[in-house]
Amino acid sequence: MSEWWRDAVVYEVYVRSWMDADGDGVGDLDGIRSRLGHLADLGVDAVWTTPFYVSPMADHGYDVADPRDVDPQFGDLAAFDALLAEAHRLGLKVIVDLVPNHSSSAHPWFVEALADPASPMRARYLFRPGRGDGPPNNWTSVFGGPAWSQAPDGAWYLHLFDSAQPDFDWRNPDVHAEWLDVLRFWLDRGVDGFRIDVAHGLYKHPDLPDQPEPEAHEQFAANTEAQAWDQPEVVEVYEAWRRLTDSYDGDRMMVGEVFLLDVDKVARYVSDARLHQAFNFTVFQTPFDAQALRETIEKSLAVLHPATWVLSNHDLTRHVTRYGGGQLGRRRGLAATALLLALPGSPYLYQGEELGLEEAEVPPERRTDPIFLRTHGAEAGRDGCRTPMPWTAEPGHGFTTGDPWLPFGADAAALAVDVQTGDPSSVLETYRRLLARRRALRSTLGDGVEWLPGPPDVLVLRREGGLVCVTSTAAEPVEVRVPATELLESTAAGAELADGVLTLPAATTAWLR
Ligand code: GLC
Repeated sequence: MSEWWRDAVVYEVYVRSWMDADGDGVGDLDGIRSRLGHLADLGVDAVWTTPFYVSPMADHGYDVADPRDVDPQFGDLAAFDALLAEAHRLGLKVIVDLVPNHSSSAHPWFVEALADPASPMRARYLFRPGRGDGPPNNWTSVFGGPAWSQAPDGAWYLHLFDSAQPDFDWRNPDVHAEWLDVLRFWLDRGVDGFRIDVAHGLYKHPDLPDQPEPEAHEQFAANTEAQAWDQPEVVEVYEAWRRLTDSYDGDRMMVGEVFLLDVDKVARYVSDARLHQAFNFTVFQTPFDAQALRETIEKSLAVLHPATWVLSNHDLTRHVTRYGGGQLGRRRGLAATALLLALPGSPYLYQGEELGLEEAEVPPERRTDPIFLRTHGAEAGRDGCRTPMPWTAEPGHGFTTGDPWLPFGADAAALAVDVQTGDPSSVLETYRRLLARRRALRSTLGDGVEWLPGPPDVLVLRREGGLVCVTSTAAEPVEVRVPATELLESTAAGAELADGVLTLPAATTAWLR
């Protein structure tokens, strides 16, 4: 039970938007290194960096042309080593992103495969003859449009995402050997873990049959068609990877982006012989409602060991906006975050949520997400959650001295890190307090969670070891009898404990003992 990752708080850095050291308007590795102090102050345990490998950036780095090198826009391997060393000096673990479902169309394997029908490289991807004039089947891309594009000789290749992201054929042993080698490359450099992109992908149904009812992709999360994802064989890949990570010293870990909304299916990926963790996206899907949250949490704790908790990331509309926006959205966001931080398992935080940032309005002419481009603007895409971090209130916001690749959100000046620092009522200082308290209590808490009675809009839970967490999703203040004598933390002003009765303002979480 001592492995660091079991209850680690992990902070996602979207590399393009966290800190730009060289003034080109795009974040980079030196920038991340220069701001790691923010993460140490915040009190997280680990940082997950999105892909920084060589890439034409059709999907902003999730289209990898060389998984063993750094894109010049982000730095070089020496910059990565320096970042890793500085993180370790500050006591932070580093998790890097692997993208094994597909490569970039600029990957040397695919360049050769596309050009030469006779090349053995074709068998490392999914090339198939068409059906009549059309593609081999009716699959659609997660990003919109068909999942097939044509090579000059007329053959079609499969891409579940952008046409610049051809899917590997995981039924080809060359692909397995390559990825084991990529893992070794980064493990040897000293990384503490891997986030595995589209971990429920990789294998496709061997016959590539039509989807009975092709699902619309209007919801990024809805793409769970049985033929394209979550095949029985995929976990064998992670069994092999687990044998590899276990052969290294120092508790290296893997967390899978298993984008399935059925937590029973997600649980198949996690075990002592498979992945250490998988993202649990059911929380992000749950409305801000006490009973709905309880149901999600109970189900997750019952089947996912350890549990993980995801409210936001670089693919999802920011939770402050999902929860209604503005002060209300921020207040609810803090209450939900404090609830998740009180639970066993691993919360994953997304850059900027510690500031209470909202989804930014990005004008159509500045949008860059392939979802926006492939749907011809029918879907806004994910740019709004990827706008740069505001560190200061000044122009450039301490992020860049150049032109930022995406505009800042309208709330950037008001919610900048240096504006909130020192203001005890700010979202940022509330995160810092909660994380410090969580860390202080950590060694005293067990995995057991007991639900105690409370009013319908209120959750009252007791963690084994004594932490009591009360979350109200009500619109009015509530009074709750609690088995506690001390109020430790509250996400909003106005909480009071007297004679075992907690008075809790609307949309607030309190921690007590
Ligand atoms: C994952 C990433 C997303 C990316 C997609 C394709 O879902 O989180 O950003 O676009 O995979 O690699």
